[in-house]
Amino acid sequence: MMQRLRNSAVHHGFGAAAVARVAPVVPIDEAPLGPPKVRLEGITQRYQNGSKTPLTAIENINLEIHAGEFLCIVGPSGCGKSTLLHMIAGLMRPSEGEVWIDERRVENTGTDRILIFQELGLFPWLTVAENVEFGMRHGMGLNKQERRARVAQYLKLVHLGQFADSYIHQLSGGMRQRVALARALATEPDVLLMDEPFAALDAQTRDLLHDELERIWAETGRTIIFVTHNVREAVRLGDRVVVLTFRPGRVKREFNVDLPRPRSLEDPEVALTARDILDDLREEIDKSLEVEYAK
Ligand SMILES: Nc1ncnc2c1ncn2[C@@H]1O[C@H](COP(=O)(O)OP(=O)(O)OP(=O)(O)O)[C@@H](O)[C@H]1O
Ligand SMILES: [Mg+2]
Repeated sequence: MMQRLRNSAVHHGFGAAAVARVAPVVPIDEAPLGPPKVRLEGITQRYQNGSKTPLTAIENINLEIHAGEFLCIVGPSGCGKSTLLHMIAGLMRPSEGEVWIDERRVENTGTDRILIFQELGLFPWLTVAENVEFGMRHGMGLNKQERRARVAQYLKLVHLGQFADSYIHQLSGGMRQRVALARALATEPDVLLMDEPFAALDAQTRDLLHDELERIWAETGRTIIFVTHNVREAVRLGDRVVVLTFRPGRVKREFNVDLPRPRSLEDPEVALTARDILDDLREEIDKSLEVEYAK
């Protein structure tokens, strides 16, 4: 199914004259697809910011994400990427539109989804193992022994088995990211929502985590929705990259990335594909700068 999805650029009414250089191009509507894992239907979010007119953060977002797909979302700062992830996580209800998971409407948070923030939210007073176990405490019906077994399993998966009894301050930034990943994975969600998780890491650590995340994704078959500012990172990881417009965030274009895995940030083809996407993104960043700096 995913194979058929790949290799195409899909226009959403913006800059339709531009043709992506991600060759060969196959129209997406040739691919017959099963029901999506996640469906965003006409999602609009308006925030009351104390001014008379509400701020429209995102507008009429329609997207379908398939089971096992790795979807990356890029867009200028403030275009509503985090807002969108919060909606999918069920932490916030959209002003308009609906989020569906497995054909069930999202009304609230659920154990089928988990959001990893950039700030991670790890507890300094708990050990690595206790942090991972903490995510499983509520509503999962696991006894202590089962939780311990899962902690061990997922710490091993992220190569932190030897650090189970360490405290968070004793770990590097990359290791902390892996604890957060283990904690999220240990709840065995179908859908992982990741909000710029690697933005603050140095290049080597980030490369390593890309490899690990890709391996874990392949091993566990999770559906991943990954937000990033970094277009190369999106191409390195994603089956598909969605570019959002500057506020209000709308889907500007989708790119299906058909490059063999594992990929590297340094692959010339990754760079070439990223350049196409960056052209689109840059237009939106320019608009955002005009608006933000005009004030
Ligand atoms: N709780 C809130 N109340 C009011 N306005 C908000 C709230 N959360 C976000 N916004 C506004 O909505 C817009 C989108 O914010 P959001 O955090 O979703 O953007 P983003 O794309 O994730 O940005 P960044 O790339 O900088 O993380 C911004 O203009 C922001 O000021
Ligand atoms: Mg954000």
